[in-house]
Amino acid sequence: MRTSDTNNAPRWEIRMFMAFMCLIALVVVPLSFSACKTTTTGSSLGTTSAMTNIFTTGTNTITLTTGKLQSNVCYACHNASTPGITQQFESSVMAQKGVTCFDCHQVPADYPGAQAHFGTYRLVSPTPATCQKCHPDQVSQFQQGRHSLPAFVAVNGVSSLTPAELAMYQAVPEGGFDPSKTEHPLAALEGNNLLSYTCNTCHQIGQPNADGSVGRCQSCHLTHTFSLEQARKPETCSACHIGPDHPQWEIFQESAHGIKYATLGAAYNWNAAPGALTIKDMPAPTCAVCHISAIGNVPGSHDVGARLTNFLAAQYTTARPDAAANGTRMQMVCLQCHASDFVTNFYAGANQVTSTVTGMLKQADTIIAPLKAKGLYTTTPFDQPIKFIYFDIWHDYGRTAKFGAWMQGPDYSQWHGAYEILRNLAVLQSMANDELAAASK
Ligand code: HEC
Ligand code: HEC
Ligand code: HEC
Ligand code: HEC
Ligand code: HEC
Ligand code: HEC
Ligand code: HEC
Ligand code: HEC
Repeated sequence: MRTSDTNNAPRWEIRMFMAFMCLIALVVVPLSFSACKTTTTGSSLGTTSAMTNIFTTGTNTITLTTGKLQSNVCYACHNASTPGITQQFESSVMAQKGVTCFDCHQVPADYPGAQAHFGTYRLVSPTPATCQKCHPDQVSQFQQGRHSLPAFVAVNGVSSLTPAELAMYQAVPEGGFDPSKTEHPLAALEGNNLLSYTCNTCHQIGQPNADGSVGRCQSCHLTHTFSLEQARKPETCSACHIGPDHPQWEIFQESAHGIKYATLGAAYNWNAAPGALTIKDMPAPTCAVCHISAIGNVPGSHDVGARLTNFLAAQYTTARPDAAANGTRMQMVCLQCHASDFVTNFYAGANQVTSTVTGMLKQADTIIAPLKAKGLYTTTPFDQPIKFIYFDIWHDYGRTAKFGAWMQGPDYSQWHGAYEILRNLAVLQSMANDELAAASK
């Protein structure tokens, strides 16, 4: 079951972890560890005295002590060495609620990845295990979706995963668990020198971390502002959801929703509290509103698969295991603004495009079948020009035609999609004919 339906955050484990962290902080560093303080001593942010601040995330109640940021040793020194970072963090909601540098960066000496730094130990790049102390629901939802391990496995395969990570990957309901998945042939061909500048720049959103956690929250929540406005704006997603094989950003820009965003977005209420966002704040949806946010009576989730009915990125689209429940969740979002017949008709039309395009893509298999039968189309990936054409047909044009229909980009369904499929099927046929003719000479 998805965590958007239930809250199964292991609360006692968090308490044990917090207690353990406090103990370590007291022993290793005789400095304040804000999350451990529970006493009220008055005063406000900017002074050294403490004030408690109790807040609730899901069912977890967490007590923080505000007024400690500027007296935090990390802050004090980094305000000189990296003022951009301290000032950005100071402007964040988290800083105003009493979160300090320690809460994310400071770890016990034996923590995986810990580095000694001025009398304490820090992580250079805090992981979701850090965020989990205070945001357990967002972390477990994220972990259940394809932004987590499936994104990493898509490029790197499973060979580097630990048994625990393999189990986490298997537990993603729509992750398409495949224990034999190897490194993607394109990644292998391009080689390791390119990988962290190409595939993995985007796919690291789901990377396994040394401490057993998975993913990078900062792929969307840029440090150190951690701004809701930034996360909700579609440019955040455009870092990865762009280009010929997944042009969701380009499609969005030509949709009515995207036009409204581009023309009237400056007046949207971008910082409405999470859970309290309504159509008054955002009269047309962004990527986040359709795929992640709570809006009106629709609960939000960091599991980006929770509202999808199809595997659109797949070569041959099939329905998802949780299609019915997922579709209801997405349609509840549409119904905030559109009539129910409008939404039903929209889904019927987009599903029709999806199955028609899938049928067109299968023609590519019919074309190469005689080559395969004669051993002229080998299993070695990307070793002949014809294999690039075959790949482009489904991977770029097929996906684009489907995405265009579902997110209202007619130019993408038509000229970058259906038309390119037709044109390249003709190229594929001609190449296949030439190869068969050459082989029979
Ligand atoms: C006495 C000064 C001082 C203190 C105290 C201090 N730092 Fe630093 N820190 C530095 C300097 C100097 C650098 C290197 C900056 C540079 O390369 O421009 C640095 C670098 C870093 C980096 C970047 C490392 C990298 O490889 O990119 C992180 C993260 C960091 N500090 C976090 C912290 C945290 C968290 C604390 C508190 C637990 C802390 N620092 C306390 C001075 C300090
Ligand atoms: C809410 C968690 C969080 C808090 C609080 C936080 N950081 Fe960070 N910090 C991060 C994350 C996540 C990264 C890694 C960014 C990345 O990998 O792109 C990071 C990276 C850094 C870096 C290295 C990045 C660079 O650009 O050089 C420094 C230095 C740093 N933090 C200092 C601080 C200081 C000083 C504070 C307190 C004023 C602080 N951080 C508070 C989460 C946090
Ligand atoms: C010590 C507890 C703590 C840790 C650790 C922590 N946060 Fe937070 N975070 C908070 C609090 C408190 C708030 C304010 C929530 C509220 O007011 O209900 C918050 C709010 C946020 C918000 C919403 C900001 C807004 O403008 O409303 C984001 C996004 C966020 N955190 C991301 C992260 C990420 C990502 C990490 C890990 C890198 C992280 N947090 C680590 C306590 C924490
Ligand atoms: C610009 C960012 C970006 C780069 C670079 C990138 N990808 Fe992706 N990739 C994505 C996004 C976004 C999706 C999701 C598409 C969707 O669901 O519509 C995706 C989907 C995939 C999928 C299908 C999903 C799955 O789990 O099977 C595979 C496979 C894949 N990418 C492999 C690669 C490989 C291999 C490379 C490098 C040769 C690469 N990607 C480079 C962003 C990127
Ligand atoms: C794909 C982009 C993306 C990633 C990755 C992501 N977030 Fe978010 N996050 C968002 C968006 C968008 C919102 C705003 C949701 C809304 O409108 O209420 C948000 C909101 C939040 C909030 C505010 C409360 C809420 O749920 O709305 C917290 C806390 C948070 N994220 C924590 C995290 C943590 C922890 C991680 C890593 C496990 C993470 N996020 C990863 C996009 C992302
Ligand atoms: C750092 C890169 C990156 C960013 C930023 C990013 N994504 Fe993704 N996203 C991916 C990759 C990679 C995949 C493909 C994962 C897979 O299927 O293997 C993906 C897949 C998805 C999927 C399909 C999930 C599924 O179950 O098939 C949705 C929906 C999605 N992203 C929405 C968003 C939204 C909305 C945002 C912005 C708030 C966003 N993403 C930001 C990289 C990113
Ligand atoms: C009006 C709501 C809406 C907006 C806005 C929107 N999407 Fe979508 N998106 C959908 C629907 C509906 C689907 C298809 C769902 C299904 O399969 O049932 C979809 C499909 C996707 C998929 C394909 C997942 C797969 O199966 O491969 C990705 C990735 C995605 N969207 C990302 C984005 C990004 C990134 C943006 C912004 C640039 C965005 N979406 C804007 C509604 C929206
Ligand atoms: C927050 C409000 C809001 C949500 C949620 C929303 N839309 Fe829209 N939608 C709009 C607005 C505003 C327009 C532009 C209205 C117009 O052109 O008359 C629009 C236009 C459209 C159009 C183009 C209509 C036309 O005649 O050009 C389609 C199709 C559409 N939306 C589908 C959807 C789907 C499907 C969903 C859910 C996945 C959805 N919308 C969610 C506000 C919303």
